[in-house]
Formats: sequence, structure tokens, C-alpha cells
Amino acid sequence: MDGENCENCVAMRAREETLEMASKYPKAKDNLMAILNDIQVKYGYIPEPSQAAVAEYLDIPLAEVYGVITFYSRFTTIPKGKYDISVCLGTACFVKGSSDLLERAKSKLGIDEGQTTDDQMFSLETMRCVGACGLAPVFTVNDKVYGNATVKLMDEVIDELKNQG
Ligand code: FES
Repeated sequence: MDGENCENCVAMRAREETLEMASKYPKAKDNLMAILNDIQVKYGYIPEPSQAAVAEYLDIPLAEVYGVITFYSRFTTIPKGKYDISVCLGTACFVKGSSDLLERAKSKLGIDEGQTTDDQMFSLETMRCVGACGLAPVFTVNDKVYGNATVKLMDEVIDELKNQG
């Protein structure tokens, strides 16, 4: 197995990096949120080895760490895809049919909101207003905003990204 990419090596690296990030904070339970936040920013999700490392560092049960992660929507345990599609369900977008965009993306990608495709290419999320209400309905792919979106545009964008690979 390749030394750089083997599963255990990736897990060990996540553990080491997490302990390093955590060590910036005193070993107090009050720092749990701050540490998790740093991990979320670094990886885009909270990997399992990191959850265990945080529990170990703060000397608290793993279930407590997991409970906080699942309670707050800004944390996720699911790695994002290369293309992170997010559909705005804020009021302006919703009244202009953004739920149709979401349904189309779900059926085209075969995943539900909050999930990532098995090939790690796409993840699908929803959001509340990106401040582009004048362009409603809106969806984003990574940092790019698509305004006045239609189901047809969603189809075209997904097809194009699939072709790009
Ligand atoms: S409600 Fe969608 S951008 Fe504001």
C-alpha cells in the first residue's frame, strides 16, 4: 500500500495535525467549540480521527464531542465533494422556485441534501440567503454564484462539471 495515501497514514496525519491545532488551546472543555471550529476550517469537515484526538486532548467522552458536532449545523462529519453545490432557500429565492433547483440537483446527482457522491465529486447543501436576492433564485458551486437560475441551468452546470471531472 502506498505510504502516503494508506488509510491508516491519513488517519494518523489527521490525528497529529488535530493534536497540534488543539495544543494552541488550554486543556479545558470550554475550548471544545474553538478547536472544532479550527478543524472544520482546515478540512472542511471533522474527520473521525480528529474527533477522537479532541476527546483525548480535552479528556472528555467521544460521545460528547460527537454530540456537539451534530448539534451545530456549521460542523459536519461528511467530507465535501470537489464541487460543493449549495442551493439558496432564503425567502427571495424560495418564492422564485429554488426548491425545484434543489430537487433537480438531488435527482441528477442521486444524493440528498447534506450528502456527497461516492466518487467525492459533488456535495449538495442548502443555505439561507447569500445576499444576492436581486438575482434570485440562486445557487453556488464552491465560490461561484449562479443567478436567475433555472432547472435547465442546473442541468447544464452539473453536466459541464461532470465532463470537466
Ligand atoms: S434569498 Fe437567496 S440570495 Fe437572498
